[in-house]
Amino acid sequence: MTARRDTRWRGLAATLRSGHAAARALAVGDSRSFVRALFLASAVRLAVLSELLVPRSLQDVAELTGATRPERLEAWLDVGVATGELARRDGRYRVRGRRARALADQDPVLTAHYRSLLDYQAGVYADLADRLRDPPGDGRPDLEEHADVIAQVSLVAAPFVVPYLADAVAELHPARVLDVGCGTGVYVRALLAADSDVQVDGIDLATGVVARGEAELRAAGLASRAGLHVGDIRDWTPDADRRFGLITLINDIYYFAAGDRPALYERLATLLEPSGQLLVVTETRFGSVASAHLHLLLACQAGAASLPTESELVADLERAGFEIVERHRLVPTEPFVGLRARPTAPSAAS
Ligand SMILES: C[S@@+](CC[C@H](N)C(=O)[O-])C[C@H]1O[C@@H](n2cnc3c(N)ncnc32)[C@H](O)[C@@H]1O
Repeated sequence: MTARRDTRWRGLAATLRSGHAAARALAVGDSRSFVRALFLASAVRLAVLSELLVPRSLQDVAELTGATRPERLEAWLDVGVATGELARRDGRYRVRGRRARALADQDPVLTAHYRSLLDYQAGVYADLADRLRDPPGDGRPDLEEHADVIAQVSLVAAPFVVPYLADAVAELHPARVLDVGCGTGVYVRALLAADSDVQVDGIDLATGVVARGEAELRAAGLASRAGLHVGDIRDWTPDADRRFGLITLINDIYYFAAGDRPALYERLATLLEPSGQLLVVTETRFGSVASAHLHLLLACQAGAASLPTESELVADLERAGFEIVERHRLVPTEPFVGLRARPTAPSAAS
């Protein structure tokens, strides 16, 4: 016993003398977080955590997951136990950790977050050498392949965005609103809730996401006041003389190439009523780990996506003939901004 303890202390002393002891200690902490995140992300993929709200044997979990390699399944479950996300008692496993319990309860934002880690976030770093040598325009097809998860992940901003939209609607009383890149329709529903008379159109590229958004509107009895359209806003034309008192661009301006944004704003100005306003909400570049990471993910996509800086956002709107009515930071810890702008002169087409 004494000899073994001596060996341990000698090992620790050797590590401390190695020169990077503090960095190694930090790396151990990072590694624990990384393993926990990988465990939870894989658990979301296996869709197994809700089943572990009640204790299950290895055999039960093998049946639920279709696993035919019980030794591997047990090794994976033991990672869950070691990270504190699962508990094992009398050979049975159940969810224990706070994150695992929230995922077992189907928290939609957390589920999308963990799903996105393996679906598209890790790949950017794993294949970075290739991405750094892609020809211009080439890159990952994440928006096409993971539109659903991307739309779900952006719901994390909803508690900050919904009140901002409600204030804009209360001030402007628009008869009709257009939500560009409406995704799941979360903000279409928020706009409808903000004013019982407002009509809302939403447009998005992603067919499946729009179909689910439409089904939710129908289920909520809101379909008569809202229309969701599949299309690209750059060439979408609304019915005849339909004009909007408010046009919103929420979490999507970064998908448009930086050089194309003024032209997009000019086009949206032609869809506004004379007193109409444009409302843009977006994470901006610089100021947090999340914004730097998102900018990298965007920069590695096919096309020319990128986060704008706040001053680029303002300059592009001004270049397109808008003046800024007001701008805010919507999230205390993030460079996540909301701003409203109105055309300085009525558009020729409005
Ligand atoms: C990150 S999601 C945000 C969805 C929603 N606005 C939200 O905040 O929850 C961005 C959305 O913009 C849509 N989008 C990107 N480019 C578009 C375009 N050119 N026309 C219409 N929709 C577009 C994508 O399909 C995607 O659903």
